Amino acid sequence: MILIDGKEIANQIKAEIAQEVKILREERGRAPHLAAVLVGNDPASETYVANKEKACFEVGMSSSVYKIPADTTEEKLIETIEFINNDTEIDGLIVQLPIPKHISANRVIESILPQKDVDGFHPVNVGRMVIGQPCYLPATPFGISMLLERNKIETSGKNCVIVGRSNIVGTPLSIMLSRNNPLANCTVTLCHSRTKDLAKICKTADILVAAIGQCEMITADYVKKGATVIDVGIHRVADSTRKSGFRLKGDVKFDEVAPLTEYITPVPGGVGPMTIIGLIMNTLKAFKGEIYS
Ligand code: GUN
Repeated sequence: MILIDGKEIANQIKAEIAQEVKILREERGRAPHLAAVLVGNDPASETYVANKEKACFEVGMSSSVYKIPADTTEEKLIETIEFINNDTEIDGLIVQLPIPKHISANRVIESILPQKDVDGFHPVNVGRMVIGQPCYLPATPFGISMLLERNKIETSGKNCVIVGRSNIVGTPLSIMLSRNNPLANCTVTLCHSRTKDLAKICKTADILVAAIGQCEMITADYVKKGATVIDVGIHRVADSTRKSGFRLKGDVKFDEVAPLTEYITPVPGGVGPMTIIGLIMNTLKAFKGEIYS
C-alpha cells in the first residue's frame, strides 16, 4: 500500500507556481488576484476560504474575501459578483458553496464571468469541458487528476468507478476521466443513490473514487485488491482528545480499506490540499489569459 501524500505534492506544485508568479509579477507589475465570496458563517466554509486565502499568499498571489451576511438577497449577492466581474485587477472569482437556500446557486454561478470562473462551475466552462475545449477544470477533479499524474498512476484502459454524482466532483470527474487524453481514457462508471449492487460495482474498480458525502461508507467489501482509492470526503467527527474538539474522516473506512489497496489517499492530507492547488492553477491561467484570450 502506498499512501498518496497530497500535502507533499501540493507543496511541490506550490513551489513551482511561486516561481512562475514571481517572474510574472515583475513582468506585469501586479500579482494574480483571487476573490472569494463567502455568504454566512458556516465554520467549515470559513476554514476552506481561509485555507484558499493562505495558499494564495504562499505562492505570492493576492487574495480578497468578500464576507456577506447569510440573510442577504440574491440581488445583492449578484451585485457583489458583478462588481468583482468588472474589477480588471481581479483575475479569479469563486463563491464558496453551499450558499443559503433562499438564493439560487445556479443563478449566482451564472452571474460569474466565465473568464473569471476559476471554480469551473459556470455552464460555459462545464460545456467546454464536456467537448474538450479549453476551460477551467473544477478544482477537486483537477486536483485528483494531478494526484494520479504525479504518482504515475496509469488511467488509460482502467475501470474507474466514481461514487457520487455531484456537480462539483462526481459528474465532472466522470467526464474528465473518460475523455480521450493521456491523463484519462478510463472506462468510467458513475454510481449514485439509486445504484443497485453498489459494492459489487465498486469491486470492479481499478480506480475507485469516493465522493458520496457519507462518513466511512466505503468499507473493505467495496474494494478490489490492488485498487487505487481516492477519498474525496471530509467529515468532522467529535473528538474530545483534540484541541479543536473534532477530527477529520473521509468517505472511506481507511483502516480496513488501506491494506487492500495499491494506492490510497488519506483524510486529511490527500485530495483536500490538491483542491486548493487546482484553484490556484486556474487563477494563474486566468491571469495569463490562457483559457480565454
Ligand atoms: N464547496 C465545496 N467545494 C467547493 C469548491 O470546490 N468550490 C466552492 N466554491 N465551494 C465549494
